[in-house]
Amino acid sequence: MTSHNDPATEEKGPTEWGEGRHGVGPWEQEHPGTPRPVDERYDPELLDEGDRRNVVDPYRYWTREAIVADIDTRRHPLHIAIENFENDANIGTVVRTANAFAVDTVHIVGRRRWNRRGAMVTDRYQHLMHHPDVHSLLVWALRNDLTVVAIDNTPGAIPLETAELPRECLLLFGQEGPGVSPEAQAGSLMTCSIAQFGSTRSINAGVAAGVAMHTWVRQHADLSSSW
Ligand SMILES: C[S@@+](CC[C@H](N)C(=O)[O-])C[C@H]1O[C@@H](n2cnc3c(N)ncnc32)[C@H](O)[C@@H]1O
Repeated sequence: MTSHNDPATEEKGPTEWGEGRHGVGPWEQEHPGTPRPVDERYDPELLDEGDRRNVVDPYRYWTREAIVADIDTRRHPLHIAIENFENDANIGTVVRTANAFAVDTVHIVGRRRWNRRGAMVTDRYQHLMHHPDVHSLLVWALRNDLTVVAIDNTPGAIPLETAELPRECLLLFGQEGPGVSPEAQAGSLMTCSIAQFGSTRSINAGVAAGVAMHTWVRQHADLSSSW
């Protein structure tokens, strides 16, 4: 068991914890006697040295470009946006979950910089787009035929548990503290809230994003195409 005082682990964050726990060794070691695949999707360096990345097994030894291209063939018409006017610490979690659900694009609204640690390197396989303000995001959504749905527990919000989410959809999340901005709510078809039963005013934005994305998945995704 790892000691909490072990200096080797003390300085490490979630990204490093994920390294090396899964994956495969060099091709020859894993597939003795089997010739290397002759396919440009495979990365010669990963075949030589093994692949310990945080990717599902069918993508072992594939180049990053090949993985992105493959996900691109089956991304959902679901987009996620998160307001980032105060450097929200939850964006990494949102990006990782968006990647897991094959979301088309994660839109960062406001500050360009965000803390990538929680993304666990999944941002390399996820399309990201920056918008300087809410207006630019809303114009982009309109041009791309996406219906914007804000997610927040503001008065008058529609329960997400019973709402019908549009298929071509952009789910918009707010930040710790202010929540979804009034401008963003005004530009949304509706605001949906996640039912709560305890004492806290709200749940973490990354958790809320996971719940809402999965609600869309339950309504629109082809579950037979999941891993
Ligand atoms: C920590 S919340 C802050 C906002 C909240 N309106 C308040 O009163 O404090 C940050 C973001 O997480 C999401 N969120 C948190 N709890 C939620 C809930 N119960 N329903 C829907 N969204 C929620 C929303 O996108 C929200 O803008």
